[in-house]
Amino acid sequence: MCGIVGYTGPRNSVQPILEGLSRLEYRGYDSAGICLKINSKLEIVKKEGKLENLRAALTETNPSSHVGIGHTRWATHGAVNNDNAHPHGNDDFAVVHNGIIENAPVLKKQLQAEGWVFKSQTDSEVFLVLLTKFAKETGDTLKAMSKAFQTIQGNSAFVAMEKSTDRLFCVKRSAPLVCGLNPVTGEAFVSSDPFALIGYAPEIFFPQDGVIGCGSVKGHTASMDFFELDLTPSTRFTAQKNAMSMDATSKGHYEHFMLKEIHEQPALMEKLVAWAIKGEGLSTYSNLKGKAPEYFHITACGTAWHAGLVIKNFFERFNNVRCCVEIASEFRYREPILKKGEVGLFISQSGETADTLACQELCHEKGLPTYSIVNTQGSTLFRHCDQNFLIHAGMEIGVASTKAFTQQVLTGYLMSMGYAGKLATVEVYQEIKTLSDRVAAICEDAAAIKEIAEKLYHKKGFIFTGRGVYFPIALEGALKLKEIAYVHAEGYAAGELKHGPIALIDDNMVNIAVLGPELFEKALSNVEEVKARRGLIFAVGPKGHPELREVSDMYYELDFNGLPNLAPVMVNVVLQLLSYHIAKLKGTDIDKPRNLAKSVTVE
Ligand code: F6R
Repeated sequence: MCGIVGYTGPRNSVQPILEGLSRLEYRGYDSAGICLKINSKLEIVKKEGKLENLRAALTETNPSSHVGIGHTRWATHGAVNNDNAHPHGNDDFAVVHNGIIENAPVLKKQLQAEGWVFKSQTDSEVFLVLLTKFAKETGDTLKAMSKAFQTIQGNSAFVAMEKSTDRLFCVKRSAPLVCGLNPVTGEAFVSSDPFALIGYAPEIFFPQDGVIGCGSVKGHTASMDFFELDLTPSTRFTAQKNAMSMDATSKGHYEHFMLKEIHEQPALMEKLVAWAIKGEGLSTYSNLKGKAPEYFHITACGTAWHAGLVIKNFFERFNNVRCCVEIASEFRYREPILKKGEVGLFISQSGETADTLACQELCHEKGLPTYSIVNTQGSTLFRHCDQNFLIHAGMEIGVASTKAFTQQVLTGYLMSMGYAGKLATVEVYQEIKTLSDRVAAICEDAAAIKEIAEKLYHKKGFIFTGRGVYFPIALEGALKLKEIAYVHAEGYAAGELKHGPIALIDDNMVNIAVLGPELFEKALSNVEEVKARRGLIFAVGPKGHPELREVSDMYYELDFNGLPNLAPVMVNVVLQLLSYHIAKLKGTDIDKPRNLAKSVTVE
């Protein structure tokens, strides 16, 4: 989603701002812009499309400025065009925004009635106008930030700059925001993601909701000050060293980040299990023994929700814990029944997904302990939960989540084993080792999967089917294919086909049938039903089943031995590679598919 980078300091701000925005490109955006203070004037350049367009426009004029704010926009209010791109500015202020101002229509009408003129269709411009109006009334930008922020509703982060000084201002509610300082070079930064600040700001600060940050430079000294909304000094922020590294940002010899991240999975699995069973994670996991809650409310979005559906099986089977897995955007608005003894568990790669964060807040307010299965240490979810189970996937850059899913499922499995007191057993270690070896073999066998992709990529539609724990894998397979290959794909419980979707089956419709050893016969008869209607079948299932081979047009055989619990992860890797190769044949933008954002910070 929207990326924000602000800078004030001695160097030309264009360089750190563009570099920061380019690091945030992977999150998805549709336009980019920058505001620079040049000769005491606020100059704004905005371009629809890729950051390259903005860079090219700036190369022409080669501007220089010691203070600036930049933004990559993922449109919510108003079409994708230069007017709606950020920053929004006037003679006195410029503002960038990430989030949604829910009462923007009402406020805009009021402000227009007072004579204020709007140049864009965005909700964000409402904040600019409020800031300008309150600054005129109070003569104080900090007061104006506070008043403007208290006037708007909804979850947002704002960064503003002004003509009259070189200060940066920021404030947020349930949206990511980080401030940074480099005491050696005397520079101050603001961003939506600490990743943008690696190598620039060794000291970073996470202000809490409703804390106004103000970055300024005096002589060679930069400072970051924090204020409550009544403008008294605030201590509601966390300060830390920026421990992120740039290692993940290279594709190495891979053509796409997605492919690199698929190939990273075997090593990551082994790293995770070693950390949890033999390393630093041991105390976290072994402390769980005998402490399983009465009920887990698992909430998440997209791929993370699918991981939750797999994890539910572990908690039910090994811990006898009832477990409900819900889509976060539904859970948060349906007044769920939450009781003492129950736990809220939130799964998220980014730890910044707005709906998932809202569910955490809801459970926390109702007095439930809140746990996360999360990738990003220091993310909002990580900071808000009572206990975190890090998935150790490293940075995931491809928009389509691959390695995070695998590590989320494994983390849920390790938690389940921890509750059952079976964590440090040879069986657990061995199963993950076996999984890692099998996944490595699948990655080596990519040519076979590519061949299948060649036979399928031009087909009209895809129905992924699975039963039991393979149903979430069917959902995940379909999600991956639709998001990166832009083809219609649905995931269905195999037994549901005949209740409607079977009407879609013809010789242009592909059934990707996922079968495991459990419920094999039942799933096989569902495949037969598709075959009888001339559907094209690609089966992924256990080896040694000639009857499955016979009924399928294509068959990818897998060895399920030694994987009594984790085989779904192995099957999923086949589907990840299939989607990747279909997308490649279709020539889509695999790492940055259209319309998608890596981290969905608006609801
Ligand atoms: C799909 C995908 C999304 C995310 C979802 C949740 O490939 O990446 O469906 O899984 O937006 O994101 P996180 O896990 O960051 O909360």
